[in-house]
Amino acid sequence: MSKLIVANWKMNGNLAKIKSDLVGYAANPGTNRSNIILSIPTLYFPIANQIVQKHETKFSLASQDISKFYNPGAYTGEISGDMLKEFGVSHSIIGHSERRMFFHESTHTLVKKIDAAIMSEIIPIFCIGEEKICRTNGKYIGFLTQQLELLHQVEVPIKELVIAYEPIWSVGTGVLPSMAEISEIIGLIHSFVQNYLPHAKITALYGGSVTGANAKEIMSQPMIGGVLVGGASLREPDFATICSYA
Ligand code: PGA
Repeated sequence: MSKLIVANWKMNGNLAKIKSDLVGYAANPGTNRSNIILSIPTLYFPIANQIVQKHETKFSLASQDISKFYNPGAYTGEISGDMLKEFGVSHSIIGHSERRMFFHESTHTLVKKIDAAIMSEIIPIFCIGEEKICRTNGKYIGFLTQQLELLHQVEVPIKELVIAYEPIWSVGTGVLPSMAEISEIIGLIHSFVQNYLPHAKITALYGGSVTGANAKEIMSQPMIGGVLVGGASLREPDFATICSYA
């Protein structure tokens, strides 16, 4: 089974890099694949969509955020799922720890964003993850379960969902959990969804300090559906290496 690779560029890159990397990915059979999803800054979706159409790419586009408001209206600065959809966006990252931390996104907001994404036929990539202190004091299972339980509040039916386990202490730090630690949480995600979303198509990803050097081992863990890659997704050769293991 092929693994899903999500490249989270965050607020990095510029027009020239977007153009050259995406055209490069389109020309490379290793990165021009349906299991590769590129999450670039929203402003660049029109140009990315043009490249996707012109080069008949197989890779998909994901937004790094989505408005919690589904209907158009007086929501200054917001971009709706339907607007993203017009530019070829198929997935949306929701609940990334940086959005929870820097933009104070509450459980209520995340639930509304998942609702709005699904209503626009955008597949949510829902992120969960604990702080280091929560892991060291042994409370991480309860904490992560609570983050997953937010899904109970989603009102629209969930048919397909990607859930990414991204421990905050690993995101951008170069510190990788042990394979046993990763597998434990991937197992937790699968048993949670088996109980509560038995009919949904669920993919469980790992994210945090994934590189070309460790991706193979991570993706060989049982039940792991792929990886969410931050920093290494900006380094074209490193990213191509990660994709080669998917
Ligand atoms: P990282 O980021 O790969 O740079 O650790 C992962 C993420 O934030 O999704």
